[in-house]
Amino acid sequence: MASPDIHVVILAAGQGTRMKSRLPKVLHRMGGKPLIEHVLRTAETVNPTTVTIIVGHGADMVRDSMGTRPNVSYVLQEPQLGTAHALQQAESTLSRSTGTLLLLSGDVPMLRPSTLQRLATTHQGAGAAATVATAIVERPYGYGRIVRTKGRIARIVEERDASPAVRQIREINSGIYAFDLRPLFDALRGIAAQNTQGEYYLTDLVAIYRRRKLPVETLLVEDPQEIRGINSRTELAEVSRIVRQTKNEELMAAGVTIIDPATTYIEPDVEIGPDTVIHPGVAIQGQTRVGAACEIHSYVRIVDSQIADKVVIQDFCLILGSRIAENATVGPFAHLRPETVVGDGAKIGNFVELKKTTLGPGSKANHLSYLGDATIGAKVNVGAGTITCNYDGTSKHPTVIDDGAFIGSDSQLVAPVRIGKDAYVAAGSSITEDVPPGALGIARGRQTNVADWVERRKTQAKD
Ligand code: UD1
Ligand code: CA
Repeated sequence: MASPDIHVVILAAGQGTRMKSRLPKVLHRMGGKPLIEHVLRTAETVNPTTVTIIVGHGADMVRDSMGTRPNVSYVLQEPQLGTAHALQQAESTLSRSTGTLLLLSGDVPMLRPSTLQRLATTHQGAGAAATVATAIVERPYGYGRIVRTKGRIARIVEERDASPAVRQIREINSGIYAFDLRPLFDALRGIAAQNTQGEYYLTDLVAIYRRRKLPVETLLVEDPQEIRGINSRTELAEVSRIVRQTKNEELMAAGVTIIDPATTYIEPDVEIGPDTVIHPGVAIQGQTRVGAACEIHSYVRIVDSQIADKVVIQDFCLILGSRIAENATVGPFAHLRPETVVGDGAKIGNFVELKKTTLGPGSKANHLSYLGDATIGAKVNVGAGTITCNYDGTSKHPTVIDDGAFIGSDSQLVAPVRIGKDAYVAAGSSITEDVPPGALGIARGRQTNVADWVERRKTQAKD
């Protein structure tokens, strides 16, 4: 028998009062991505027929940040009267659907795809009307408690409404459920807002189903970290730390040396090859790939970049949207801005900034340079203090430096300009015209030495 359709609803309308933020809670970031993005990615692993996100507080912000995606629709919950009320808003989009509804919370970002899959199969296998994912935790404070009679789930009681005895229960509601769609929306109408918060609690559905003799199951999630909800900035920091730790452990298991995992910030999508060494205080973010046998020294941040094998990045570099080829060395204190390409074995030294610039294989820019909109060939030497003057106040212009050229120190290359193959630029030149291949371009005031000037000045002073 083919398994029934799966539909996903994600609750993301709440304000997240405890975050004390103007940003909707689900847009706060963990591991570089908004919380809701993590939840949506997990949802997509079960190939749902539809995904509905319930938005409310900051609805436009949430929609804009997610962009348009196939199969994902948004429903506005206004005002926000509780989790049951939130789910009710999906009725119009799901009224014709049958099968299983997986309900996820936009503020529970660490759920594993395998757990979600298990929730669906357990629920469908048992033929349940509802299956609640639960966990046993040391500190159940703040969560709804699972009250059982004769071993079976009888109801869920929210912290605020719980008696001291119920507060002792350590089995908690994760806020993640599987529902059979058929009885769901009708039953939701039976939920009242009779609780300390005056909200419509989805958790009341359990008692309603039990009264109607509909089967309710639970799925115990073994690792309670997976279902941790984020309600405050402290929880956001704690959960982020767990995500980082998991990533660091994965990388170390795959052969990466991380000298101090506690101060290493590697986002989940980053890939790193074996025998690469990561020093303390490094952040590697976004869609970044670092090859094997690289060394990334302290206080480097790399974002959305491709770094090949055996690259050395010295301390305090910022590398954004760049590509660095094998055996290159960069830094300390280098700034690689987007669309920078560093060739095989090339060297970028201290206080060098590159933007939209290609530095060819074996080329060097070792000290104090700005190279922007430049195409630099192989084996070029860019002397200390070289600047490409790429901007005339209105437009940007390109600089081309061909293979083997030598740019003397403290030169300005006023773009658009081309320095030919093997050409030399004399130190201190302001180059405004192309230098042909093999030529020496010299553009500076001539030096004059005034003989005996010092002696003559002394004599004048005495007179
Ligand atoms: C909820 C559960 C609780 C469970 C906990 C797990 C209820 C009543 N309580 O409590 O049993 O232990 O999650 O994390 O369901 N939301 C809306 N619209 C609303 C209200 C909330 O979309 O009107 C969304 C929120 O944005 C959030 C999710 O629903 O993503 C959960 O709401 P929240 O207020 O955080 O519930 P908890 O108090 O954490
Ligand atoms: Ca919550």
